[in-house]
Amino acid sequence: MADGRLQAPRGTFDVLPDEGGRRLRLAHLAEELLHGAGYGYFESPVIEDTELFARGVGEATDIVQKEMFTFEDKAGRSLTLRPENTAGVCRAYVEHGMHKQAQPVKLWYWGPFFRHEAPQAGRYRQFTQLGAEALGSDDPSLDAEVILLLDEFLARAGVREVRLRLSSLGTRDTRRAYLDELRAHLRSREHELSEEVRGRIEANPLRAFDSDHAGTQAVMTDAPRLLDKLEKDDAEHFAAVRALLDDAGLEYEVDTTLVRGLDYYTRTVFEFESDRLGAQRGVGGGGRYDGLVEELGGPPTPAIGWAAGVERILLAADAPEEPEDGAVFVAVAKPESGREAFRLVRELRRQGVRAELEQAGRSVKGQFKHADRIGARAVVIVGDGLEVKDMRSGEQRPAADAAEVVRLVGA
Ligand code: HAM
Repeated sequence: MADGRLQAPRGTFDVLPDEGGRRLRLAHLAEELLHGAGYGYFESPVIEDTELFARGVGEATDIVQKEMFTFEDKAGRSLTLRPENTAGVCRAYVEHGMHKQAQPVKLWYWGPFFRHEAPQAGRYRQFTQLGAEALGSDDPSLDAEVILLLDEFLARAGVREVRLRLSSLGTRDTRRAYLDELRAHLRSREHELSEEVRGRIEANPLRAFDSDHAGTQAVMTDAPRLLDKLEKDDAEHFAAVRALLDDAGLEYEVDTTLVRGLDYYTRTVFEFESDRLGAQRGVGGGGRYDGLVEELGGPPTPAIGWAAGVERILLAADAPEEPEDGAVFVAVAKPESGREAFRLVRELRRQGVRAELEQAGRSVKGQFKHADRIGARAVVIVGDGLEVKDMRSGEQRPAADAAEVVRLVGA
């Protein structure tokens, strides 16, 4: 900036304490819900070999073609800031021989991800994903389980106006045959398509379903649908997943146009959207990736999972109704009381009382003003003895010692 002040890079943001508290509460909620369902917490590095994403996410995807932050290390190796975590999870599954553990292996994660996208509301270059992955089984109950867990998480997080879109992409072979059919359809009406879609008929014809170009949309209305082409096994698998979701009373829309921006998906795919969000309405999504572990050098391993955007969840969620209870503020009535006040605040904290101390040399009046400003629920005045003032009722009472202060303020 011209005046010498620096700003966070474009598309990134600082998390200030108000927002920080909401984020931490979400993380605790995730741990409670996912740990309770048998998912273990997992972390992998923020940097990975570029090849992992080229092979895992797919060369033809937007992510790999345009959105990766890629750089060379000092030895000339190409590294990339992770744009997503499923490829990394599979890399770790193979690297640590997790196929030898009890299957399915269930993992959850939370952390920063990076995509070089045009920033806008709900779309950042560094964002936070929360995710869950279950590897080592193709049982339809896992598909239903992960979908229901994300639904439950969004509900508990207070995300409103949520819709679930669900589909199945079949196996890679079904998809390959279908894609040829789709390409033929697109080519037969090529002149009606947008330039972008025309340019990607070969590489990624499915993206045409996502286009907002009127001509392209007209062509896509009559396009063949993958869901009508599924092999018997895949159709049965999808029916079993749906039956479990129906039993659970979950509402969803089977959306034959649902395509995800990553190449590894097979069979079940899903996306949760919230109408509270603008253009970036996807709060979380995922699906099966039955071929990815093998693609990365491991044994054939079916797997499924999802990731959700923490920032988008917070944008689409109701703010908490009850503001958090204020701290207890320990005021120092005269300079000689400083050491006693310091001891008292430590004792209160040891007893589980959230407590703060006067640490800016304010007058007693100034300290009460400050206590108000930070929303303190009580002030303990340390001077000739101890006095506890309840900031809601205004009532003030003497206390003999720290134990009585704790009783009066309530832990
Ligand atoms: P994804 O749909 O690319 O899937 O991302 C998941 C979620 O991350 C999105 O629904 C969105 O909420 C959030 N997100 C993505 N990009 C941004 C961005 N630029 N700014 C803010 N939020 C964003 C995946 O990443 C897959 N790995 C999900 C998965 C897990 N599939 C199977 N397992």
